[in-house]
Amino acid sequence: MTQAARILKCRPEALNECARLLRRDELVAVPTETVYGLAGNALSEAAVRKIFSVKGRPLIDPLITHFKNATEAFAMVLKNKQAELLAEAYWPGPLTLVLNKTAAIPDLVTAGLSSAAVRVPAQVSMRALLQDLEFPLAAPSANPFGYVSPTQAIHVANTLGSKIGAILDGGSCEHGIESTVIDLRSPNDIRILRPGPISAEQIGSVIGKKIPSGRISSSGGAQSSPGQLSKHYSPATEIELFAHGEIPRNPLTEAALVLNRKPQKYDSEHIYWLSEDGRLETIARNLFDLLQKLDQMGYGRLQIEALPEEGIGVAVNDRLRRAAS
Ligand code: TXA
Ligand code: MG
Repeated sequence: MTQAARILKCRPEALNECARLLRRDELVAVPTETVYGLAGNALSEAAVRKIFSVKGRPLIDPLITHFKNATEAFAMVLKNKQAELLAEAYWPGPLTLVLNKTAAIPDLVTAGLSSAAVRVPAQVSMRALLQDLEFPLAAPSANPFGYVSPTQAIHVANTLGSKIGAILDGGSCEHGIESTVIDLRSPNDIRILRPGPISAEQIGSVIGKKIPSGRISSSGGAQSSPGQLSKHYSPATEIELFAHGEIPRNPLTEAALVLNRKPQKYDSEHIYWLSEDGRLETIARNLFDLLQKLDQMGYGRLQIEALPEEGIGVAVNDRLRRAAS
């Protein structure tokens, strides 16, 4: 019989245990400031293969490699001026840089691409774990392929629990949405591949150049980041997205209605809200947890209000559109 994964509170003994498992090519779910990751030794083919198989992820979808600091990251990819500026400004933090790779990063991690996605996470326990290890960690979000990303240890336990060695419990993730992924390979054609907590405006102000906001159309074009797959990040329950502020007058009876903020009046127990006050950061932090809870409740449909298209709202709307598509 398969055993459920142990959920370990972040204490020194737990970090030692996770490091021990990772050195043996086992997988550990780790907290980051964005979402939980399914981590393995990025330099071990055996560990990386396990990541793809546990997640049910096709081998053509590349992984992010997580480093303890920028020096170690830039030793394995070809950096440029923009990468240095962004690392200086936002690492450790929720920003992933795509750069040309060196042979030090195994081809399996990057799905055979000549580029690699690298980031230095900020979450304290994840940083401590990386400090302990002699190798970087490859980690996709710790959800079954295509499902909603986990923002709490229990979300990982509910889905991948029986398939991994341990879950390091760092509490709820600070941002609650995956990192911004930016392609920096061509300084004249910088692109956001996946919008996230660090906005296009923030990136533009650091590199002194306006860049497109990262709203990628779901039809046509090469999938330069497989996170661009139009159907992704999706709960099992059908989602209907409606515009910010346009609350349906007659919500469906079999549906849950999910609003950005607490309404002044509500007369149904099937109304949920993502924040008391409409703060975009709070909505982002609560979204994936609420989606996973509602997914267990047997609703026929989730009717969800989009966020204003600003700040982290751009990233949340991107995920909601994919979940609804
Ligand atoms: O916040 C995050 O980024 C989380 C935490 C655990 O770090 N990780 C995460 O990983 O969301 P994942 O695998 O679920 O999403 C990584 C995204 C995917 O869309 C993948 O296609 C893209 O990054 N990616 C990875 N390597 C790439 C590359 N070389 N070129 C373009 N896109 C790449
Ligand atoms: Mg993911």
